[in-house]
Amino acid sequence: MRQPFIAGNWKMNKTVQEARELAEAIVAGVQALHDVEVALCPPFVALTAVKAVIADTPLKLGAQNMHDQEKGAFTGEISPIMLAGWVDYVIVGHSERRQHFGESDAFINRKVRAALRHSLRPILCIGETLEQNDRGETEAVLAQQLRLGLDGVSSTEAAHLVIAYEPVWAIGTGRPATPADAQQRCAFIRQELCARFGDVADAIRILYGGSVTPSNAPELLRQPDIDGALVGGASLVAQDFIAIVRAASQKQTA
Ligand code: 13P
Repeated sequence: MRQPFIAGNWKMNKTVQEARELAEAIVAGVQALHDVEVALCPPFVALTAVKAVIADTPLKLGAQNMHDQEKGAFTGEISPIMLAGWVDYVIVGHSERRQHFGESDAFINRKVRAALRHSLRPILCIGETLEQNDRGETEAVLAQQLRLGLDGVSSTEAAHLVIAYEPVWAIGTGRPATPADAQQRCAFIRQELCARFGDVADAIRILYGGSVTPSNAPELLRQPDIDGALVGGASLVAQDFIAIVRAASQKQTA
């Protein structure tokens, strides 16, 4: 059984003080729900403050990005050895990094492998653009991002992966994929993972991301191949994020 997983990607939002307050409010609402794994992914400068807030709780900490090199002349970057032992998860290949920072599948693959080498669990984001979707290329795009992003990853390492299916056109638009479409894409992703890694694929959690809200979460999370959500906007509002975590908890007990 795959434990439901809800991760909040705060993106470039919240000062350190605001991050601390948001984390405190979320902890108060979710720490009694032991059947859902919850991770908070604040900006780098707020990792320490949020880590202190979640210290005695089951909540996990995630970074939003990482460089693949351990150290060196990469001004402004954060390395895997800085995050190792400090955070549990690291988001890799988010579409905003691909789009605005020109990250290639090859670079994303180096980050995935660096994360695994340092016992950080990568949340690898994949997803098609609106144009690719309109051209009927969605499955080809997902297959390619998986193949290139996971190049050189072994089946043993694959057990530590989380995949987030985030259609680019659904991110921050208030226009989520329908539960049926999201399920179909996540089932396709699982099939690709199965072809590549065998039975291990059954244990890999696949999240849906893109305009997840308290009102659409229950139906999305009810889908058999959607094991949780990577939440952007709604993760910045404690009550909304808590409601999404509750919906995931109900999936588990349903
Ligand atoms: P929204 O939930 O704001 O659409 O963002 C989704 C996302 O990009 C999470 O990584």
